[in-house]
Amino acid sequence: MRTSMFRSVESALRRARCFSSESSPKRKVAVLGAAGGIGQPLALLMKLNPLVSQLSLYDIAGTPGVAADVSHINTRSEVAGYMGEDQLGQALEGCDLVIIPAGVPRKPGMTRDDLFNINAGIVKSLCTAISKYCPNALVNMISNPVNSTVPIAAEVFKKAGTYDEKKLFGVTTLDVVRAKTFYAGKAKVPVADVNVPVVGGHAGITILPLFSQATPKGSNLSDEEITALTKRTQDGGTEVVEAKAGKGSATLSMAYAGAVFADACLKGLNGVPDIVECSYVQSNITELPFFASKVRLGKNGVEEVLGLGSLTDYEKQGLESLKPELLSSIEKGIKFANQD
Ligand code: NAI
Repeated sequence: MRTSMFRSVESALRRARCFSSESSPKRKVAVLGAAGGIGQPLALLMKLNPLVSQLSLYDIAGTPGVAADVSHINTRSEVAGYMGEDQLGQALEGCDLVIIPAGVPRKPGMTRDDLFNINAGIVKSLCTAISKYCPNALVNMISNPVNSTVPIAAEVFKKAGTYDEKKLFGVTTLDVVRAKTFYAGKAKVPVADVNVPVVGGHAGITILPLFSQATPKGSNLSDEEITALTKRTQDGGTEVVEAKAGKGSATLSMAYAGAVFADACLKGLNGVPDIVECSYVQSNITELPFFASKVRLGKNGVEEVLGLGSLTDYEKQGLESLKPELLSSIEKGIKFANQD
């Protein structure tokens, strides 16, 4: 009896030691666009993550202040700020994970695709630097239009000979975060327990929440309620853009979502089992070359792209309708990356 009690205390201590910050592997994480609306709260949240040992904050302006500020927080990681292109190499060298929220956000009346002209160029140049300075890092792409910026990144890495499809992720976690929140409210279940897969892409109708697979099951939702929840999830970004009335798009909820996804990637790298998140990745679960679905994360990034599971007729219809738009965004990205 006593022996078994000691044994269980000992194993609890061993587990605690195993997951304590000091014994978790050293991980360097960079945020590119760290002085922006998303970048700043994301830098804060990554500073709070005990899995990070070095936090590298890069932007074209404003990073010394953000880095000095965040660096005073008494958590594990050492923080360094880098500003301007000549410091980009140093910011990236040795990174395990690079998170990219660099670029311009939407204003009311704009679609994510309207950002293409500016953000595509930013993403192309940042990914060129990644292929040079940290070709083995996982890349979490936040910059919009994600449906195109991820294919751009893939093409840049292919040209540089560093592409590993297991390491490139479009961050769609905010769609999942929104679907969970909206579903919990309607189904009257505790939001902390909710899971809802969101598949497809990250823009308008390409965002397809699968409420038929939502757990836990709460009050029965009518077809009209499911349609309304789907539309609200698809338009969640626009809801924020309009409420901010010209002062940008989602930054705080996006920083939270980005931090959740980055944490999952780090846990995967560290060998924590059964880490599953939705993400927009190279995929063959549909005929589209990139697609968001549940992904199992592991020591090399994507360990397995999981299938869609069974869909209702409404979801099947949503899936078919999103394909042409998603394909054209993918093709636009590939074309851009390969011009000149
Ligand atoms: P912001 O304008 O507040 O910040 C962007 C930052 O990027 C600025 O600090 C700017 O100096 C920096 N930047 C510009 N060019 C750069 C370069 N070449 N290298 C490094 N940094 C550079 O914009 P915000 O609100 O932070 O949004 C950033 C991006 O995230 C936008 O493209 C936006 O559409 C996207 N976004 C994505 C979401 C998603 O779910 N994936 C959700 C919300 C926004």
